Parts: sequence; structure tokens; C-alpha cells
Amino acid sequence: MAKENLFLCMGSACHQLGVYEVLPKLQSLIQTHELEGVVELKGSFCLETCSHGIVMKLGDRCFLDISPQNVETIFTQDILPEIQATLARSP
Ligand code: FES
Repeated sequence: MAKENLFLCMGSACHQLGVYEVLPKLQSLIQTHELEGVVELKGSFCLETCSHGIVMKLGDRCFLDISPQNVETIFTQDILPEIQATLARSP
């Protein structure tokens, strides 16, 4: 099964907001939820929503206003269900 790409914006605005603190937290969340086999975390160029905090994208869906402080909550509440929904849709 192909892995789903989970993009994390590494553009300059997101960089200034602390994307390098968010990255290790995401890596450990992916491990904690045993998603290494299904999700590929990738850096991306600016996702063009720079005024909305750090941005992540899965499929067509963007997750906005991420910060090192709230990344765990957003991952658990919003991103994880989206990953599960995506997996349920794939053959
Ligand atoms: S720098 Fe991240 S959305 Fe533009």
C-alpha cells in the first residue's frame, strides 16, 4: 500500500513560527500512533496560507494555525481522524 504524504510547510513564515520544534513532535506522534508504515512525513515549500500559523496538508485538506504548543492536540483531534478516514477509503 502506498503511504500517504503528510506535508509540513518549511517555508520562511512557518520556519519563523517554529517548524523545527514541531517536526520532532510530529515524528514522535507518528511513532506513538504506529503510523510509520502508512504516513510519510514530508517537508514542503510554502503552502500559501502563511498568515495562518504553521500549516500541514494531507490530501486536499490543510491544517492551519499549528504551533509547537498545540501540535499534539491538533494531530490527535484533526489529523489522526483524517489519516484514518483516508486509509479507510483506500483499497
Ligand atoms: S511559509 Fe508556510 S504557508 Fe507560507
